[in-house]
Amino acid sequence: MVEPRAGEITVYFYAILFARYPQVRQMFPQGMDAQRDRLLRALLRIVDLADDPESLVRFCGHLGRDHRKFGTLAAHFPAVGECLLAALARYAGPAWTLDIAAAWAKAYGTVAQVMISAAEQDEAVRPAVWPATVVHRVSRGHGIAEITVRPHITYEYAAGQYVSVETPWWPKRWRYYSAANAPREDGTLTFHVRAVAGGSVSDALVHRAAVGDVLQLGPPMGDMVLDAADHRKLLFVAGGTGLAPIRALIEEVAHRGGRHQVDLFLGARTGAELYAVDDMLRMAQRHHWLTIRAAVSHEHLPGIRGSLPEVLAEYGPWYEHDVFLSGPARMVVSAMETLTLNGTPPHRIHHDPFETPVLSTS
Ligand SMILES: Cc1cc2nc3c(=O)[nH]c(=O)nc-3n(C[C@H](O)[C@H](O)[C@H](O)COP(=O)(O)OP(=O)(O)OC[C@H]3O[C@@H](n4cnc5c(N)ncnc54)[C@H](O)[C@@H]3O)c2cc1C
Ligand code: HEM
Repeated sequence: MVEPRAGEITVYFYAILFARYPQVRQMFPQGMDAQRDRLLRALLRIVDLADDPESLVRFCGHLGRDHRKFGTLAAHFPAVGECLLAALARYAGPAWTLDIAAAWAKAYGTVAQVMISAAEQDEAVRPAVWPATVVHRVSRGHGIAEITVRPHITYEYAAGQYVSVETPWWPKRWRYYSAANAPREDGTLTFHVRAVAGGSVSDALVHRAAVGDVLQLGPPMGDMVLDAADHRKLLFVAGGTGLAPIRALIEEVAHRGGRHQVDLFLGARTGAELYAVDDMLRMAQRHHWLTIRAAVSHEHLPGIRGSLPEVLAEYGPWYEHDVFLSGPARMVVSAMETLTLNGTPPHRIHHDPFETPVLSTS
């Protein structure tokens, strides 16, 4: 009932939250239009999961741990709950009966409790954020930079995972970037960042970040890891900076002795946008188990022409493979369609969430 008015409810919710509890305002970014509806979307997701307690607890636990980096404390939950319920009551109108109000209060209390205890358990084992100094920065042209950071304290993650990053130029604006390397002995991580048009954090990372700057990293996230694969044959498909986690996975295959047969398809619109092809060709020279093919969709070049999904359909078959897809959402969705149409079981296709990772239940 309230979902169609999600935008208005969210604006109202934040307005009363910041008016009644000005002390929480500094936890949120200054301009937060793009993110405003996430809390409400999370609540709607929670309502959807009401009959699936296992997924519900996993989702809320994930959300609670993720909130540590925002500085959220148990004491903040009643304030948020009060304003959220007030906002729902206002927009639900006469449908907001005493029974419904009581049910929502109970549901919010339960969700808050799961989030708080997940955060407390997490606190016992790891920090909320990891400061990391930029130690290397290389421009790859076309608005792409490779940025290497050294966390001040050990940062444990698995190849294929992504990391939320906060820069000194846009405080409180957390954005996700995938590590492009398997864990290294020196503890450094390299990110491939593309400056998107009108983007804040990506633009600062590509055009402003310099050696010595300190970023903040949130905990690693994501299930697109090598352990998710059941099969020896792997198909990796990367579009644009989607190459980052795929590159990390290839390094991981190498670290584990190259026991997989890997087919990598790299895609871009133009040849020049295939920013890391040399690096990948060097990897293919070193590793006999790695085959690379590049596809360019908007330019006539010797080699393969077409979008990645089109090219995938031509090669194959891929139904004996575990598939890892990474890149623009449109590319991932259409590659998934092509692959499933050609017989790859959906559970063997792995990819990252497209937008707000904490809104997914996995
Ligand atoms: C799981 C995950 C992993 C990611 N890994 C990487 C990575 O390895 N490398 C990388 O460069 N990015 C990656 N991203 C995207 C990254 O998190 C940011 O969304 C992106 O850098 C834009 O942030 P911004 O603050 O610069 O833009 P914002 O200030 O948030 O947005 C400004 C404008 O840019 C548009 N915009 C936002 N994102 C994109 C986009 N991706 N393409 C085109 N337009 C966009 C917005 O609609 C808006 O109009 C990943 C995202 C997710 C969810
Ligand atoms: C049931 C309770 C809550 C739910 C369901 C919820 C949900 C969410 C979601 C889904 C996001 C987006 C996360 C992301 O994009 O990575 C978010 C962000 C955030 N939440 Fe919550 N939250 C809850 C309670 C709280 C509380 C109690 C606080 C403390 C005041 C809080 C503070 C924040 C902050 C500061 C952000 C970042 C906002 C931004 O980047 O724009 N949340 N929340």
